Amino acid sequence: MRIILLGAPGSGKGTQAENLMRDYGCPQISTGVLLRETIEQGTTVGKTVEEIMARGDLVSDEIVLDLIANSLEDIEDEKGYLLDGYPRNINQARSLNILLNSINRPLQHTILIDVDPEVLVKRLSGRRTCSLTGRTLNIYFSSQDELDACTNSGGELIQRDDDHIESIKKRIEVYKEQTEPMIKFYSEMGILKVIDGEGAIDEVYSRLLSQVN
Ligand code: AP5
Repeated sequence: MRIILLGAPGSGKGTQAENLMRDYGCPQISTGVLLRETIEQGTTVGKTVEEIMARGDLVSDEIVLDLIANSLEDIEDEKGYLLDGYPRNINQARSLNILLNSINRPLQHTILIDVDPEVLVKRLSGRRTCSLTGRTLNIYFSSQDELDACTNSGGELIQRDDDHIESIKKRIEVYKEQTEPMIKFYSEMGILKVIDGEGAIDEVYSRLLSQVN
């Protein structure tokens, strides 16, 4: 499967990517994850990226295109790919098309996960990652059993640095200004499907599968 998951911060791209990876073995390429790894390397580029991400702005198109191109090189052709958080503006969408055509691995699906902005804020402020399993959880939406499974095994529920209210508001604003215009781009390519991203995680996943199968 060769697919892009599009949607505002907190719409559930990462959560649904985990489901697709589990069921289809489709490798996830998340620019957010790759950028956080770049920060951990402590390089000059990493320090610049850290400041930009803490503000909730977008990192430069050149940096993210390099990350994507390198990741695609490392993935075997037959496994497909799942892009999460990339592209995020028209320029990135155009560069991606050029890149994918040049390696003969064109897109099959672009799924937009649609969620009300008020729900996004609650999801992002409640998001936690289990330090042991890396699983994405939520203090408002996950069951107590799921949260306890992490902490009772000695794990910690970690909050992301950019999941504070100022950065959340800025990220949603940047999404509206820069990412939403891309919806028309993919719609005109004839590969855009929109799904309702509200309701239980499994319900949203069923909607997603009904669009890709
Ligand atoms: P990135 O890491 O990509 O973050 P994001 O786009 O802001 O998206 P999120 O990861 O916050 O949300 P998500 O949609 O994956 O939601 P999730 O599944 O976790 O990017 C971070 C930063 O990096 C950007 O701000 C930018 O600075 C930079 N960057 C990244 N890509 C870039 C690019 N291409 N160009 C330039 N800069 C770039 O779910 C959220 C929460 O909701 C979780 O707690 C989850 O458990 C919960 N949840 C999910 N679904 C449901 C449901 N159905 N019901 C209840 N709760 C749910």
